[in-house]
Amino acid sequence: MSSFIKPTKIIGNKVVFRNATVSDAEFIVELRTDPQLGKYLSLTSSDVSLQIAWLEKYANDNSQIYFIIEDKRGERFGTVRLYDQQDDSFCWGSWVLKDGRPSGFATESALMVYHFALGLGFTKSHFDVRKDNRKVWQFHERFGAVRVAQTEDDYIYNISLEAIQKAMARYRDYLPDGIEVIND
Ligand SMILES: CC(C)(COP(=O)(O)OP(=O)(O)OC[C@H]1O[C@@H](n2cnc3c(N)ncnc32)[C@H](O)[C@@H]1OP(=O)(O)O)[C@@H](O)C(=O)NCCC(=O)NCCS
Repeated sequence: MSSFIKPTKIIGNKVVFRNATVSDAEFIVELRTDPQLGKYLSLTSSDVSLQIAWLEKYANDNSQIYFIIEDKRGERFGTVRLYDQQDDSFCWGSWVLKDGRPSGFATESALMVYHFALGLGFTKSHFDVRKDNRKVWQFHERFGAVRVAQTEDDYIYNISLEAIQKAMARYRDYLPDGIEVIND
C-alpha cells in the first residue's frame, strides 16, 4: 500500500524538489503572503515564528510531504505539497511558483508530483481548485483531470491513472529521464 515517505530530494530535469525545513520559513511566508500568489491559497500568517512551528511539527508528520521547488543550483522558486491520502488516491496542492520562475517549471513540477506519487504506489489523485483560479484549473484539465464536484468556492477534480500516464507521455520533453529520488 502506498504511503507518504519524505525523501530528502527529488531530482528532475531542470527542477529539484527538496523536503521543506525550518530554514525555509521566511521564504514560504514571503511566497504565501504575496498578494498575487496568495490570492487563491488558504490564508497564511505573516508571523515567521508560526511558520517555523508549523515546519517543526511537519518534520514528524507522516501524513504529508511538503517540498520546496528549486532549480539545480539550489535557488528556491516555490512549493508543492502531497497530502490527504485516501486509499490509493493522493491530494496535491499548496502549489506556488514565484515570478521569475524559469519557463517550464510549472509543467515539470506537476509531472514530478505524478512520477513520484506513482512510484509510491498511488494510482490516482484528487484536488480542489478555486473557481476563480481559472488558469490553474485549465492547467489541470489539460493534464486530463476531470471536474467531479463543486462547493461554493471550489471545483473538485479527480485524475485517473490513465490520464496521468497520458499526460506523462504527452509532456515527456519536460521530464525526459524521469526522476531520481534521494533518501539521505
Ligand atoms: C499554480 C502555478 C504554480 C502554475 O504555474 P504557472 O507557471 O502559472 O502555469 P501556467 O498555467 O502558466 O502553465 C505552465 C506552462 O503551460 C503552458 N500552457 C498554458 N496553457 C496552455 C495551453 N492551453 N496549451 C499548451 N500549453 C499551455 C504555459 O505556456 C506554461 O509554459 P512555460 O512554463 O513553458 O512558460 C502558478 O500559477 C502559481 O504560483 N499560482 C499562484 C498560487 C496558486 O494559485 N496555486 C494553485 C492553488 S494549489
